[in-house]
Amino acid sequence: DKGGHKHYMAKEIAEQPSVLTNALGFYIKDGRIELPGAGIDFTKIDRLTMVACGTAFYACLTAKYWFEQIARLPVDVDVASEFRYREPPITPGTAALFVSQSGETADTLAALRYCAGKADRILSVVNVPESSIARESDLALPILAGREIGVASTKAFTCQLIVLALLAVKAAQDRGEMDAEGVARALEQLTALPGLLNQALALGDRAAEVSRKLAEARDILFLGRGAMYPLAHEGALKLKEISYIHAEAYASGELKHGPIALVDKHVPVIVMAPRDALFEKTVSNMQEVMARGGKVLLITDAKGADEAGDGVWDTILMPEVADFVAPILYAVPAQLLAYHTAVAKGTDVDQPRNLAKSVTVE
Ligand code: M6R
Repeated sequence: DKGGHKHYMAKEIAEQPSVLTNALGFYIKDGRIELPGAGIDFTKIDRLTMVACGTAFYACLTAKYWFEQIARLPVDVDVASEFRYREPPITPGTAALFVSQSGETADTLAALRYCAGKADRILSVVNVPESSIARESDLALPILAGREIGVASTKAFTCQLIVLALLAVKAAQDRGEMDAEGVARALEQLTALPGLLNQALALGDRAAEVSRKLAEARDILFLGRGAMYPLAHEGALKLKEISYIHAEAYASGELKHGPIALVDKHVPVIVMAPRDALFEKTVSNMQEVMARGGKVLLITDAKGADEAGDGVWDTILMPEVADFVAPILYAVPAQLLAYHTAVAKGTDVDQPRNLAKSVTVE
């Protein structure tokens, strides 16, 4: 049942405010973060190794910024297909965390089995509680996204991010890096997300308008800085999966180290940049693109649009949001652009060519 939407993907994008509300309700009780079962005590952990594939991998990369910045916990992130063949040493005090919507991805499961008996704790963040990855973990944290049918992952991504953000706040609290006031503020910012996502979803028509122009491109670049950098990757993955347009993501500051050679008047460059502490640097990266005739699509808030000035090709105006949770909100325009570009191209949005929902072979 597509609930009145043309595609499952559209339905799943639209469901995000309500599934995120469920997830927040499950994990936050009386203003405190409560994990199921025995939970995890981060005072006993001094390194986190995160492993996943595809969209779940980008959720891990985003979470690395959170765990390192707010909990001062060192984090390694790896794609599952590379992880175990490298035979990484797992040192005492390491928790290993596996993120998977299906809980059945072959490489992620194999990575988990590699860590079993080596890591202090095996954690997972999954959508399917009875899956193999959940069953073989010491602690499985559900993302409560409900069944996701579209091959392109959308609501599972934002739910994974919410659970990882809560875990990072818990780690910060356990490790004495965040006081009660800080925790309360972080929880408020997370709780404000469903409302903000609703506002972002209202940009659907705007995204559709821009997407009709994007649909003509052969190559598209995504740029982001800080925690927006993994999201740039997620935006590029989503776009290539369903529209078949070649898309690449770069850290904004890496552009001049090579990729800027690709920029000309045919290449849209999508810059995901809320007005944060690093915004000024992003503006100068954008100017480098515009000076070479590149078409910048800036996704930012009113302050950001103001500071960026003239010369951009187009702007998608987002609500203002706290830095900490910005990647979760900015996932929405990334999803909407991919969706509407695919619709404009007439591709099979829910069943893109060559792809399976769950990859259970290596
Ligand atoms: O079920 P999983 O989360 O383990 O799946 C991982 C990837 O296969 C998955 O995220 C894939 O990249 C999606 N098609 C992305 O939209």
